[in-house]
Amino acid sequence: MGIERKGRPSAWTLEDSLSELERLAETAGLRVVGWLEQRVDRPNPATLIGSGKVEELIALRADTGAQVIIFDDELSPAQQRELERAINNPNVKVLDRTALILDIFAQHARTREGALQVELAQYEYRLPRLTRAWTHLARQAGGAAARGGAGGVGLRGPGETQLEVDRREIGKRITHLKQELEEVRKHRAQYRRRRNEEAIPVIALVGYTNAGKSTLLNALSGSTVYAADQLFATLDPTTRRLKLPGGREVLLTDTVGFIQKLPTALVAAFRATLEEIAEADLVLHVVDITHQNTEQQVAEVLRVLEELKATEQPIITALNKVDQLPDADEIFGSDMDLEHSVAISALTGQGLPDLVTMLEEVLDEELVSITVLLPYQRGDLVGLIHQRGVVTRETHDEAGTHITAKLPASLAPRFEPYLSGPAAERI
Ligand code: GTP
Repeated sequence: MGIERKGRPSAWTLEDSLSELERLAETAGLRVVGWLEQRVDRPNPATLIGSGKVEELIALRADTGAQVIIFDDELSPAQQRELERAINNPNVKVLDRTALILDIFAQHARTREGALQVELAQYEYRLPRLTRAWTHLARQAGGAAARGGAGGVGLRGPGETQLEVDRREIGKRITHLKQELEEVRKHRAQYRRRRNEEAIPVIALVGYTNAGKSTLLNALSGSTVYAADQLFATLDPTTRRLKLPGGREVLLTDTVGFIQKLPTALVAAFRATLEEIAEADLVLHVVDITHQNTEQQVAEVLRVLEELKATEQPIITALNKVDQLPDADEIFGSDMDLEHSVAISALTGQGLPDLVTMLEEVLDEELVSITVLLPYQRGDLVGLIHQRGVVTRETHDEAGTHITAKLPASLAPRFEPYLSGPAAERI
């Protein structure tokens, strides 16, 4: 059920938003058998859509034998209940985009923190909507087995008798999940502190869902030298340590894919993870250049970055999937105003060397230059400069090692006692 609200202009047409919803439904393991749309002037508080449209929806449902009706806009718990009451068929479930996205996230969460966050968001979404016991969407659709707890967005359950038990259980589970998340976050804060001490630049990978972030993460860790994580005992599995061709190490960290109308419950649950983007040294924005809504997707990602206050650091835009374009030049004809952009294919590897060069260049702009004379007993600092900086000149004499290099500003104070060149005043 697609809805366009008058007075709430969107960059997306009703049709494009609905076809995205259709893909989401398919991702969740459902088959779409029909759809309706309505341009709503004043939303009906009880059912969101008008009463005539509700009748149409009921008729279409009966014709198609559909078991699920999905609204492309968020339904309030009361609207959801009212619609289910109007349909009056215990085998039919009314969901909204939020519930669908939550279900997909639950199936796809890769990290422990991700899984906890999604589970928490699901329970918080579900609690006010609880009218009967819930089972996992994928289970009904014949998909993967339900994960722990009361499962996903849910369709049919054993019946009303479970209701109170469920409410109490969900309340307990929410408290427990919050505690667990707090623990995970404490650990992460520790890693982050160590990361900061080491001054390894962090590159945050962001992008609209399905843009190709994971593929790029894998391609980059394969095509550049992948150094095993010697320093961190456990890294978040979606963070990889990479050595760029110039010798410098960086951390490349994947983030949750963005989508328009990202459910508020989910934004809140993922806020801590998303906020890390704001702390990254550089944002690598992956764009699916072949998508019919590329520009809307880019705008949505930039909007979320702004909301997260991740606007200070440079953004490199990787225009991905060029292998699908007959003429790669045509993408530069688009009027998107992007400062650093490079056409790539994460799948074929095309353009990746250019991307890596651009990463190095942009990171270099964030560095400070120093010239030092390091006595021989400070071999540790010589090693550090090589590992984290870009050495442009190195000579040895009886006093020690003379090095001219560019370094992350945060490391510069450690070299202050040994500054020797004209660049010394720059720190
Ligand atoms: P989310 O997990 O939804 O955030 O997606 P993602 O951005 O991590 O995208 P992912 O890497 O999973 O890729 C999405 C789809 O695009 C997959 O089917 C990839 O095989 C495909 N894909 C990624 N990069 C390319 C590319 O350069 N060319 C082509 N043709 N397909 C690509």
